[in-house]
Amino acid sequence: MKDIIDKLEARRQAARAGGGKARIDAQHKRGKLTARERLELLMDRDSFEELDMFVEHRSSDFGMEKQKIAGDGVVTGFGTVNGRTVFAFAKDFTVFGGSLSETHAQKIIKIQDMAMRARAPIVGLFDAGGARIQEGVASLGGYGEVFKRNVLASGVIPQISVIMGPCAGGDVYSPAMTDFIFMVRDTSYMFVTGPEVVKTVTNEIVTAEELGGASVHAAKSSIADGAYDNDVECLLQMRRLIDFLPASFSSGVPQWPSLDTAAREEASLDTLVPDNPNKPYDIKELILKVVDEGDFFELSEAFARNIVTGFGRIEGRTTGFVANQPMVLAGVLDSDASRKAARFVRFCDAFGIPIVTFVDVPGFLPGTAQEYGGLIKHGAKLLFAYSQATVPLVTVITRKAFGGAYDVMASKHIGGDLNYAWPTAQIAVMGAKGAVEIIFRADIGDPEKIAARTKEYEERFLSPFIAAERGYIDDVIMPHATRPRIARALAMLRGKTVEMPGRKHDNLPV
Ligand code: HXC
Repeated sequence: MKDIIDKLEARRQAARAGGGKARIDAQHKRGKLTARERLELLMDRDSFEELDMFVEHRSSDFGMEKQKIAGDGVVTGFGTVNGRTVFAFAKDFTVFGGSLSETHAQKIIKIQDMAMRARAPIVGLFDAGGARIQEGVASLGGYGEVFKRNVLASGVIPQISVIMGPCAGGDVYSPAMTDFIFMVRDTSYMFVTGPEVVKTVTNEIVTAEELGGASVHAAKSSIADGAYDNDVECLLQMRRLIDFLPASFSSGVPQWPSLDTAAREEASLDTLVPDNPNKPYDIKELILKVVDEGDFFELSEAFARNIVTGFGRIEGRTTGFVANQPMVLAGVLDSDASRKAARFVRFCDAFGIPIVTFVDVPGFLPGTAQEYGGLIKHGAKLLFAYSQATVPLVTVITRKAFGGAYDVMASKHIGGDLNYAWPTAQIAVMGAKGAVEIIFRADIGDPEKIAARTKEYEERFLSPFIAAERGYIDDVIMPHATRPRIARALAMLRGKTVEMPGRKHDNLPV
């Protein structure tokens, strides 16, 4: 018996050695952890159950039959994050560069299927050179099977992709179909075709970092939802994110103990909005003062900073926050902001996470750049996302809610359940200056008359009361009472049920 146990242990040791000491040392030298080290950090201590550790590839081309390494370049299994089940696979760059073979794909597929059956989130850690070049179409077929499962799982269980090394070719499309992508600065990059192919086809000379590094994808392309300085920080943040996520679309949001009472008022919010309506203020201050214990997980922080999206908790329960940011472009809605918020709203709706929207928006951004870039369709994405949401929607207008942007930002008309406004709110078709210059064009040469007309317009229209008189605003609330009012609204809406008309699926303006 001892012999048998020793043999098992020897085989395990061999599998755990991956591509061998030299390749592991090279991995560490680049500032990267190994696949198993990463999984240890992601999961609760000693909770990771590795599966398929002894799987080997079946290829015999190009001398591959002589190069078999147990595990075949990917570590798969399940464990817990703060006690909740999570499935994971981690590409092992020390084994054939983490490249995907037929058997490597089968290991990932098995985990995807298990996560679906168990209705638990799945996390993929990427550090790989794409398709196993020695395997050809068997590898491409494997990718296809993974992609198909990503789509089947979309909206059923949360899927998170973390890019922790090279990620090219077939490896980029699976993350692209998951809910979130995060990257590690300086050691990870993502592109469909690498710098050499780019040079051959377009004559452009770029480095891997310039083409697809974390700075590109977190700030410019919006492919990544966030970037972190190193593997350790990234994985600890993934644990924090998972704590916010429901296990599946039908599980309900997680509820964590909270020391923060729902009744907590914040006197400082009464002076958050400056007297001068054109002066910016930081909307994140409002979010941080409203959520439990100031704990807010922001998504896409470096992209379209004129809108803020992320998760917080109210009474221990996950809540999505969308907020115009007056500090950036006066909080205007442009194509990027609309797309960013639309994707977030759809994630929350798919997984039953209520949404709180803070509105201070001067309208949609005018100009040829925006119109040529498809502002109409991108703006419509956000309008569509809110209009189809059936989760609780609580909206608070802090200052401006002008024009079409008023409608779009979870107004009563498109499904807002409770719509509040601060006394500083201004709800109108446009700002006073623009309005007066249009309806009193004849007076433009007379500054005194224009000033009087502007004052008149401001007094009549730039307040929350016209909307409140019509019931479009349910109440005008004191800023300091924002948290208790939101908490009561969300508690009341916990059982919200909405029937949508029957159909195969809608036709989102993609
Ligand atoms: C098999 C691979 C491999 C691959 C790397 N390796 N990529 N083995 N198939 N795709 C192996 C190397 O032979 C090497 O083995 C080890 O992994 C480390 O690779 P290095 O090149 O030494 O590392 P590095 O210099 O860091 O460069 C990493 C890299 C580079 C940028 C990822 O290896 C690379 O460009 N690889 C090929 C990328 C690629 O073209 N993939 C196919 C994409 S097409 P040893 O034994 O020396 O340690 C694709 C189509 C799918 O994916 C489409 C589906 C839709």
